[in-house]
Amino acid sequence: MRILAVGIATLDIINRVSHYPQEDQEVRALDQRRVRGGNACNTLVVLSQRGHDCGWAGVLADEPDSQPILDDLRAHHVDLTPCIHHAGGKVPTSYVILSTDTGSRTIVHHRDLPEYPAAALARVDLGSYDWVHFEGRNVEQLGAMLQQARAAGVRCSLEVEKPRPGIEDLFGLPDLLLFSRIYARHRGFGRADEFLAEAAPAGVEAYCAWGEEGAWLRDADGDVRHCPAFAPPRIIDTLGAGDVFNAGVIDARLRGHDAGQALSHGCRLAGRKCGQQGFAGLDGELK
Ligand code: FRU
Repeated sequence: MRILAVGIATLDIINRVSHYPQEDQEVRALDQRRVRGGNACNTLVVLSQRGHDCGWAGVLADEPDSQPILDDLRAHHVDLTPCIHHAGGKVPTSYVILSTDTGSRTIVHHRDLPEYPAAALARVDLGSYDWVHFEGRNVEQLGAMLQQARAAGVRCSLEVEKPRPGIEDLFGLPDLLLFSRIYARHRGFGRADEFLAEAAPAGVEAYCAWGEEGAWLRDADGDVRHCPAFAPPRIIDTLGAGDVFNAGVIDARLRGHDAGQALSHGCRLAGRKCGQQGFAGLDGELK
């Protein structure tokens, strides 16, 4: 199936430490990795491993730090034709502290790059895709982009990870909503089921991942379901686990599975990811 994701790619500089440092403390990293990240691209490289034909619509900065991003996306056969290039600017960069102790991932993010505009997406033949996945960012233009997908008759999903002013007005546009725990908490909810029942619009299939407690779904009929987390024997790396959950949901829905099956598929895939470093090897049957 053909999938397009609209969102960002980042350079992730990941320092693994034995335990999370205190403020003003100096600690030595156990190791360091410089890898491609970014929610939409993380989701895409997983979908690509699961046999889909993937494309990325995003902005590439013309500077050396783009190279690891390009190399990784090409290695995963992600089509970059819908991208636009920006002379100047800086690749969005995340300085990540990965704690071995707890598995937490703390991110300091810096960006100086324009967002992918609706005018660029208008030049993409959206009707040639089976699914378009949007990162919930660039809210000023996101509504127009979701409308473009609707007009092309292509199924689409919206990831709502961070609170952004005005994003709630767009919840009725995608076929499927993927919420994060951070967003639900920002809205004042301590439980995913209550959040979905009260804050997600009726009639839209909505998921909310909740870390070690698994994930919840409210289907289009309004039924709320829970799937526990598939915790690996040891938590190795939680960076991007939500992006992997999203890939699992999209993969299952594209293959014709129902929303309940998509919920457990997303949880299994995210669980497997947390037991390993990075996003390799997320293909094959899930146990
Ligand atoms: C993980 C991630 C990282 C990136 C950050 C951006 O979900 O996509 O790869 O640095 O989040 O917010």
